[in-house]
Amino acid sequence: MRILLLGSGGREHALAWKISQSSKVEKLYIAPGNAGTANVGENVDIKANDFEGIKSFCLDKQIQMVVVGPEDPLVKGIYDFFKEDELLKSIPVIGPSKQGAVLEGSKDFAKAFMQRHGIPTAAYQTFTSETLAEGKAFLRTLKAPYVLKADGLCAGKGVLILPTLEEAEKELEEMLGGMFGGASSRVVIEEFMDGIECSVFVLTDGCGYKILPEAKDYKRIGEGDTGLNTGGMGSVSPVPFADEAWMKKVEDRIIRPTVEGLKAEGIEYKGFIFFGLINVDGEPKVIEYNVRMGDPETETVMLRLKSDLVDLFEGVATGTLAEKKVEFDERAAVCVMMVSGGYPGSYENGFAISGIEDVEGSIVFHAGTAMKDGQVVTNGGRVIAVSSYGKDKAEALTKSFTEAQKIQFQGKYFRRDIGADL
Ligand code: AMP
Ligand code: GLY
Repeated sequence: MRILLLGSGGREHALAWKISQSSKVEKLYIAPGNAGTANVGENVDIKANDFEGIKSFCLDKQIQMVVVGPEDPLVKGIYDFFKEDELLKSIPVIGPSKQGAVLEGSKDFAKAFMQRHGIPTAAYQTFTSETLAEGKAFLRTLKAPYVLKADGLCAGKGVLILPTLEEAEKELEEMLGGMFGGASSRVVIEEFMDGIECSVFVLTDGCGYKILPEAKDYKRIGEGDTGLNTGGMGSVSPVPFADEAWMKKVEDRIIRPTVEGLKAEGIEYKGFIFFGLINVDGEPKVIEYNVRMGDPETETVMLRLKSDLVDLFEGVATGTLAEKKVEFDERAAVCVMMVSGGYPGSYENGFAISGIEDVEGSIVFHAGTAMKDGQVVTNGGRVIAVSSYGKDKAEALTKSFTEAQKIQFQGKYFRRDIGADL
């Protein structure tokens, strides 16, 4: 099969790594990819949002499947673009329809969907600039800390958690006043949930679903979960509290009602669903939906997925996912993310990266890298993910931390406490 994978981060390198291991793959292209994806497939200089460019490429290379990494093209409707085009409609797109992608594209839609289907999540209300006064009144009914979420996509920056009512009221006003542009013209205010987070992933063909290995990610820049939020500084799989009993609750109360809810509402969905969950006193609740795989969770989940990913994708495309088997690797997998100095604030790109070839026994996934005059250079905040297997989490972490020391670039930083809280 000739496959085109869209995206350019660590998630896409991990997906490409896994896809390339399938005997079903004749050729893998990644658009636009990064310096790492070039080692497992062929990079194509087309942006993941350039639908016309993607169309020409698919027709020219007779692509037989498109796998979408990031949310942006999904929210912009790439699934529907293919489905509605006479020349493209026979090419399956792994990812939800535009309507399905609203689960990630609008927090208000996601919350209302959960409410309609009785899926456990924090109590909430949504406000606009016209209902600012009501929003402030709602805040006063809640206990600190206060959770404010921009309704639309904000590249992971749209959630504010505020310790006092005064700050919450001020930020609500600013968000509704355009702090995140149109994305915060509506703001969801919700009850704060206290617990440990866990990311659960499924693949669905719109009828059935398969649960993939779960993972926990580490969002803050500083050790001990301090400082600013990032795209993710590392991940660990499995997650100890996500045992059989807990996962059964997740499946019964969250996964099945979600897949059945999508179907009941006539929303086409053939792709990944990422359930951002929190464990509140043993009970799983949904923090958010994403309509793609997580990053850096993918950099551990792909290590723990034993089954042929392309075979599963075929099941998604043809509606035969129920016939497929998903097998997990029993080993633990972890990922340590190496980032640019200054990230998640401002940072410079273009620093030479050395030592990747010295890494032994870990798997290096490129996140933000590029090739410049034959040299791999930094090209993003999150630069390189060092993923490792171990008989347990501790062994895998030791491996990743040791190997991460071998990779050098100016300003490099990584958290040395990944997995320490579990
Ligand atoms: P989101 O973009 O919705 O995943 O939110 C970003 C982060 O904010 C989550 O990963 C949580 O750590 C935190 N968060 C969001 N909503 C809540 C909530 N209701 N209670 C506690 N923490 C939350
Ligand atoms: N790691 C969280 C995310 O991908 O959104």
